[in-house]
Amino acid sequence: MKNILITGGAGFIGSNFIKLLLEERDYNVFNLDLMSYAGNPDNLLPFVDFGNYKFYKGDIADFKLVSEIMYKEEIDSIINFAAESHVDRSIQNSYPFMHSNVEGTLNLLNIAKQFKLTKFLQISTDEVYGSASSGETFDENSNLQPNSPYSSSKASADLFVRSYYKTHSVPAIITRSSNNFGPNQYPEKLIPLVITNALEGKKIPVYGTGENIRNWIYVEDNCRAILECFEKGKEGEIYNIASGNELDNLTLIKSILRIIGKSEDLIEFVEDRLGHDLRYSINSDKIRNSFNWDEKYNFHPALEKTINWYLENKIWLQNLKERTNFSEFYKTLYRVD
Ligand SMILES: NC(=O)c1ccc[n+]([C@@H]2O[C@H](COP(=O)([O-])OP(=O)(O)OC[C@H]3O[C@@H](n4cnc5c(N)ncnc54)[C@H](O)[C@@H]3O)[C@@H](O)[C@H]2O)c1
Repeated sequence: MKNILITGGAGFIGSNFIKLLLEERDYNVFNLDLMSYAGNPDNLLPFVDFGNYKFYKGDIADFKLVSEIMYKEEIDSIINFAAESHVDRSIQNSYPFMHSNVEGTLNLLNIAKQFKLTKFLQISTDEVYGSASSGETFDENSNLQPNSPYSSSKASADLFVRSYYKTHSVPAIITRSSNNFGPNQYPEKLIPLVITNALEGKKIPVYGTGENIRNWIYVEDNCRAILECFEKGKEGEIYNIASGNELDNLTLIKSILRIIGKSEDLIEFVEDRLGHDLRYSINSDKIRNSFNWDEKYNFHPALEKTINWYLENKIWLQNLKERTNFSEFYKTLYRVD
């Protein structure tokens, strides 16, 4: 594998993954991103000086465009990060999720088949397994029971990936990770939302009673796990990626407020998200045993590192807010004033 097409590389995880690739490997990296609201030009700035990096703006569902890139750059593998990724937005309007997550993935699979790629890595999520009851943990063979339009679109894409492996021998692998946090994350997601609101002394909306439980993985740990799967993973296999950090939203929010030195009075309980999954929990023994992968970061030091990143990169947030009508959208999303 030499020439890799990374899709969605202007987003949160994709940009962290490209950083890792450019710093630690010598692949030629081609980044295709639609630059939706979540595609951030500032995330791309660290890559401009690398001669083995090139950016293309466009839609993964555009067969002609992707084919042209494949020919021109002699792409031999694809890692598909591109997606609509926010559950709340999928509840407001599911169609963009159908387009990017399902049609987009299907288009890339057809391209992978036509161009006889050596590897196709689909980036998926633990949310496809649905909500876990207390004590329950899902492994790679567990049923898919997605509950939100977002997770349904990701599960649909996973099933297309499986079918293209079985039917057309596309050399596909799927990774399903738990919730990521770290630099470059759009502040509609829980951790950067809490950090940025707390830093600005704004209220922090908490859905329902804040008892929802998530497993949190530092983005660099997930990126290293994805790289292992890309380089050593077995075709047709699925790898769950999670850390040992499971905690409820309210505990997480209080930890952030404590680190930043802000009062818990900023917490404001708001009407719960529709169909809100109570708990996600996946077993990641397979990737740990297959590749000796382990997370490098403990949760609290990684959380402090993330908070420091937002403190040191205020211009990143300022630019983002100037580009988008962030505050209006934020109000409709979380129903707060
Ligand atoms: N963030 C998490 O905690 C998490 C956890 C598990 C899995 N995932 C998965 O990881 C992937 C990346 O997530 P993220 O948090 O970085 O998302 P993100 O929203 O930050 O970035 C997504 C990127 O994809 C681009 N994009 C969207 N539609 C596109 C299209 N049709 N064509 C080309 N580009 C398009 C956007 O412009 C953006 O740059 C997604 O597939 C997501 O489902 C995320």
